[in-house]
Amino acid sequence: MKNILVTGGAGYIGSHTAVELLESGYNVICIDNFSNSTEAVFENIQRITGKRFTWYEADVRDAVQLDSIMGAHHIDCVIHFAGYKAVGESVQKPLMYYQNNIDSTLILCERCLKHSINNIIFSSSATVYGRPQYLPLDEAHSLSATNPYGKCKLFIEHMLKDLHIAHSEMNIALLRYFNPVGAHSSYKLGESPRGIPNNLMPYVCQTALGIREKLHIFGNDYNTVDGTGVRDFIHVVDLAKGHVAAVQKMATDPGCVVYNLGTGNGISVLELVHAFEKVNGIEVPYVIAPRRSGDVAECWADPGAAKRELGWKAQLTVEDMVRDSWEAQKALGVHDILQSRQYTASV
Ligand SMILES: NC(=O)c1ccc[n+]([C@@H]2O[C@H](COP(=O)([O-])OP(=O)(O)OC[C@H]3O[C@@H](n4cnc5c(N)ncnc54)[C@H](O)[C@@H]3O)[C@@H](O)[C@H]2O)c1
Repeated sequence: MKNILVTGGAGYIGSHTAVELLESGYNVICIDNFSNSTEAVFENIQRITGKRFTWYEADVRDAVQLDSIMGAHHIDCVIHFAGYKAVGESVQKPLMYYQNNIDSTLILCERCLKHSINNIIFSSSATVYGRPQYLPLDEAHSLSATNPYGKCKLFIEHMLKDLHIAHSEMNIALLRYFNPVGAHSSYKLGESPRGIPNNLMPYVCQTALGIREKLHIFGNDYNTVDGTGVRDFIHVVDLAKGHVAAVQKMATDPGCVVYNLGTGNGISVLELVHAFEKVNGIEVPYVIAPRRSGDVAECWADPGAAKRELGWKAQLTVEDMVRDSWEAQKALGVHDILQSRQYTASV
């Protein structure tokens, strides 16, 4: 297992994973169409690691480009991050989500078969568990989805399981992420979504920076420690290391495997905001807004299978998460964020 193709490698999780792979001695080949990122990310990965790697501006739906990239490199394993990820947007533009997320995976799988690439790691999500029937969520929990984003994840999981049934030589790892936050300690990478953030932490940071007036916290009447939703926040560097562990697992020819990547600890949204304020010494003005439909009260992982079978466990603390998110956001600066808002307005 030497040459790893990373789709969506300029994105938030893909870029952090590329760093960990390079630092673990793998050859990394990244592709991204920059629909939610920029090529500056690739320069920063090279600065952080001091290692050169190959990257392509390419769309995963473009079979011709994939053929030429796969033909040029002897790819051992593909990690498939590329896709759209905003739940709310997926409700408004379902076809755009089905088209990009499902088509890209279909085409990628076909090209993997053609080029005898027998290892695929897929970015799934805790969203596939739907409304938790029990906690912590283990991999045997029932699956369901309530929005097009989640349905894409669920459908792709089925597609990859079927692929393994039909082609037993094909190893598949479905990694179900919980809530990634934080940034690389160099603060050269981070989460810098275009437009209004979908995830909590960029919203917290942008509010602390004064770009947004107030953070909206959706619901404070859940049956939780302080009424706000409870989630399993995981540092993105821990998550990235989980991918390195999954790549190592693929070398053992494991078949089709599924792992939760979370910490196993639930903390409330308000607890996270207060930790951010305390660690960074800055206030985050917030208002309580009505619950969002589809949001669950509590959700956290049982990460036991990943610990047993991958030898992986999240190490970083909530303090690390909030500090690194803030430092990376400040390093990114207001200018870039405002530019990305203009970009969104013009497309
Ligand atoms: N961030 C989260 O909270 C979270 C949680 C669970 C699962 N995931 C999944 O993890 C994966 C990565 O998430 P992320 O947070 O890094 O998102 P991201 O938007 O930062 O990264 C995705 C990257 O894929 C690229 N891309 C999108 N469509 C493409 C295509 N057709 N061809 C080539 N490149 C394309 C984008 O430009 C972007 O750089 C996604 O599949 C997402 O659904 C994310």
